[in-house]
Amino acid sequence: MATIIDGKALAAKLDEATRKRVKQLAEHGIIPGLVVVLVGDDLASQIYVRNKERRAKKMGLHSIVRKLPATITEAELIQVIQEYNEDTSIHAILVQLPLPAQINEFHVTTAIDPKKDVDGFHPVNLGKLLVNKTDRTPIACTPQGIMTMFKAYHIPLDGKRVVVIGRSTIVGKPMAALLINANATVTITHSHTHHLAQLTREADILIVAVGIAHFVHATDVKPGAVVIDVGMDRDEKGKLVGDVDFTTVQDRASYITPVPKGVGPMTITTLMAQTVALAEWSGE
Ligand code: GUN
Repeated sequence: MATIIDGKALAAKLDEATRKRVKQLAEHGIIPGLVVVLVGDDLASQIYVRNKERRAKKMGLHSIVRKLPATITEAELIQVIQEYNEDTSIHAILVQLPLPAQINEFHVTTAIDPKKDVDGFHPVNLGKLLVNKTDRTPIACTPQGIMTMFKAYHIPLDGKRVVVIGRSTIVGKPMAALLINANATVTITHSHTHHLAQLTREADILIVAVGIAHFVHATDVKPGAVVIDVGMDRDEKGKLVGDVDFTTVQDRASYITPVPKGVGPMTITTLMAQTVALAEWSGE
């Protein structure tokens, strides 16, 4: 039976440390400011944004949610971003993805000041990650949160075979870069990959970010593997489930993350910590 990685408990512990840093900044008259820009009315995005706002308020941050209509043009959205680029009370800008079809995500992420890019999606920050020069560099929160889990559970990465399912800029690509920087041997797979199960069965660590409920079954997993589930899917009954069939895979893995209370809380914790870090760096 696998050890269940308790993302919620670990997140609560890390939040304590972040809260102390917020207090120290307050002594210098700085309140870390986070703006989350939500375009349109995607239901899942609304839930994520609400969770982020709740946690930011609890943490004592200056938190703004800027809701914009689905019909907004790209130019109008970029103008809103520029407003926050110039606002000295805001240290961190997050534009919730996905965006409506008329808006080019690359144009939007590139419009954010790299020093306020709390998601780490700006090409300057992604580039620093790729060349392993990440001092004072924001890094995509989900992959960074997963790295924190590995560290907290003493899961070694050096020399390990890691398979990542998913090649997104939000998870797969930054995840691969972080793992390579930690001396793992990384394979990125995606919807065009042939013989996927052959690859996943070789993985010491399997990270799944496909967005399909119960995509990974026990037979896809090497006995004793570490399984990280990034999925936030709905099953037939509308219940929140992951990309991994938890019930069968937990008998085969050595460590596994649950959904909910696994990767999700770690992403938000990392977002909070990184907002505070951006505020700290801005004052230096
Ligand atoms: N949509 C799903 N995950 C994320 C994330 O980490 N950041 C942003 N901006 N949008 C997302």
